[in-house]
This record gives sequence, structure tokens and C-alpha cells, in this order.
Amino acid sequence: MNRDKRHLIEVRELYKCYWVGSVPYPALNGVDLRVQRGEFLVIAGRSGSGKSTLLNCLGALERPDSGQVRVCGEDLGAWDDDRRADFRLRHLGFVFQAYNLIRVLSARENVAYVCQLQGLHRGECMERADYWLEQVGIGYLGYRRPDQLSGGQQQRVAVARALATGPDIVLADEPTANVDSKTGRDLIHLMQDLNRRFGTTFLIASHDPAVIQAAGRLLRVEDGRIQGGGVTYRPPRPLGLVCPRPRRPLWERLRLKWREHRRRH
Ligand SMILES: Nc1ncnc2c1ncn2[C@@H]1O[C@H](COP(=O)(O)OP(=O)(O)O)[C@@H](O)[C@H]1O
Ligand SMILES: [Mg+2]
Repeated sequence: MNRDKRHLIEVRELYKCYWVGSVPYPALNGVDLRVQRGEFLVIAGRSGSGKSTLLNCLGALERPDSGQVRVCGEDLGAWDDDRRADFRLRHLGFVFQAYNLIRVLSARENVAYVCQLQGLHRGECMERADYWLEQVGIGYLGYRRPDQLSGGQQQRVAVARALATGPDIVLADEPTANVDSKTGRDLIHLMQDLNRRFGTTFLIASHDPAVIQAAGRLLRVEDGRIQGGGVTYRPPRPLGLVCPRPRRPLWERLRLKWREHRRRH
């Protein structure tokens, strides 16, 4: 796979409608979108405009009714759930509004856990967790469980978890919605800083003015469509450091190759 493809995300004519009984709730009405590597893109719009649905389709969490979704040069359309899960693990990081941390694990175990899912050894997972907790400014809180952390600190753990696997893209859905405005501003500046230092692409759905103000590029969604007006575009800054990318152990790589081979033949 070519990691330097010009467009990291290409979306064409995306449609998605939810049905509750026989009542349709159209969520996406023909979305076209292209995202370059290294962007800090904010998708703004009123509640119910389709932001989460769009992010979930890009993150291989939901399937659109029609249209094409290419992420990292791969067409996600025809893939089964296993392959989509594997793709998420290798290429994407997620930050949710409600943090979604595992309550019985400490902050560092929460971060290390996703690295373990990637097949890395426990020692390396812990090293990564410590490194990324340090990068998000809470290295000293690694041994606390989520209920011993504030909302802002929990979201920092979630950001560390999203980055620890070396993703191409971080998808964040209303990341500042559950914290006060000062904490929200700090969080978005942290993400901006990580984007500049590590070159990780960020896609953030939000209607928080502080997030909108921080956008490298701003898109507005209305009634499931991206609006042409009100778009400011600033090209992404030159990339700085490269986000460390985990290498799977040999047996894990061979197992994946074998699975890929069986899928194709
Ligand atoms: N699971 C669902 N069942 C029914 N309707 C849904 C579901 N998820 C989203 N919708 C509808 O789809 C539209 C877009 O929702 P969503 O993507 O969550 O918007 P946003 O994130 O901008 O608030 C809304 O009208 C919403 O009610
Ligand atoms: Mg939403």
C-alpha cells in the first residue's frame, strides 16, 4: 500500500438512510469529500446534520447504503466485518465524546490494550503507553483508573490510545462535548499540536466554536450534505516527526498474509 497517496480519504456520492419501522431518517444525502494526509479537518454542523454518520462510514464502523469510501487507498465497500476490524486496528484511531475507556483498567493499561490487539509484545505495549501518555501531558497519571481522572484527563487518555497504534487518521466525534470550555480548548490545542508534530491526519466532528476556530480546514454539513459556502482552506503544514508505527511480530505478519491469501484464492 502506498502510504503517500495524495488523498488519504476519497468519498463519492455517499448515501445513508436509517429506518425506524417504516419511517426513513436520511442521514447522508450524497457526500463528496477528499482529505489529504496531514490535514486537521473539522466537520461542523447542527445536531442531526449527519456528522457522526459520516465519521462512522469513514471509520468502517457503519456501512453506507451507496457510494464509494476509499481510505488509505483501500475501497472499504465490499469488505466483511473481520477485514474492516483489522483495517481499523491498523490505520485508524478513534476519540469519542464519552471517552469510552475500560473502567477496570488503569490509564496506561487502556492505552497498552489496543497495542496488544495489534499483536505487539506486552513490554512494548507498556512502553508505548507511557510514551503517549507523556505526549498528551499526563504521564504522571498512568496508574489511575478512569474514575480517578477528570473528564479532560480521561479524554487525554483516549487521545493517547488513539495515537499509540501509529494510525494514519484519527477520527474524533465531538471530543470536547463532555468537558468545560477551558478544558475543551486545551484538548483541541493538544490535538492541533499532535497533528503538527507527528503529521497524523485528524478528522473532527464538532459544533464547538473553539474546535471550529482551530480548524486547518472547515467543512459544514447540513441535512446530510457538505455545504459549499463558508469553507476556509489552509493547506496542511509541512510534516514534522513521523508517528512511530508498530511492527507486528513475525508470526502475526505471516498469519495475516495467510488470511489475505485465502481470502483472495
Ligand atoms: N441509529 C439511528 N436510527 C435512526 N436514525 C438515526 C440513527 N443514527 C442517526 N440517525 C438520524 O440520522 C441523522 C443524522 O444523525 P447523526 O449522524 O447522528 O448527526 P450528528 O452527528 O450531526 O448529530 C439524524 O436525523 C438522526 O436522527
Ligand atoms: Mg453526532
